Amino acid sequence: MDPSGLVLDGLRFNEVVVVRVEPEKLDPEAKPGSADGIVVYSAICTHEACSVNMWNDYEKMLVCSCHGSMFDPRARARVVFGPAQRRLAQLPIRVEEGKIVVAGPFQGRLGPQRAS
Ligand code: FES
Repeated sequence: MDPSGLVLDGLRFNEVVVVRVEPEKLDPEAKPGSADGIVVYSAICTHEACSVNMWNDYEKMLVCSCHGSMFDPRARARVVFGPAQRRLAQLPIRVEEGKIVVAGPFQGRLGPQRAS
């Protein structure tokens, strides 16, 4: 649901990953869109649009299962490994009455850059 109350259901570009990290380990640039260490990112890989659907517990990184790009959830999902060239878009959130609420539109471009 977007901040206006419009339900955006069934659109692949609304697929997100939700991660909770220690708040003090969040980079300053990731904090404005986070709440209590919770960050939400687009799950659409910026390389070839596969789903970022794995977690590397040793590195504490989000992983795309197609070609192995890794994104750092503490650093606004910047690319730390693999062929992706851009970070994942961040979805700003806040917590209201114990629930995660979307606080604004995605920050950054969703999915891969396409030639026009
Ligand atoms: S589609 Fe994600 S690394 Fe290629």
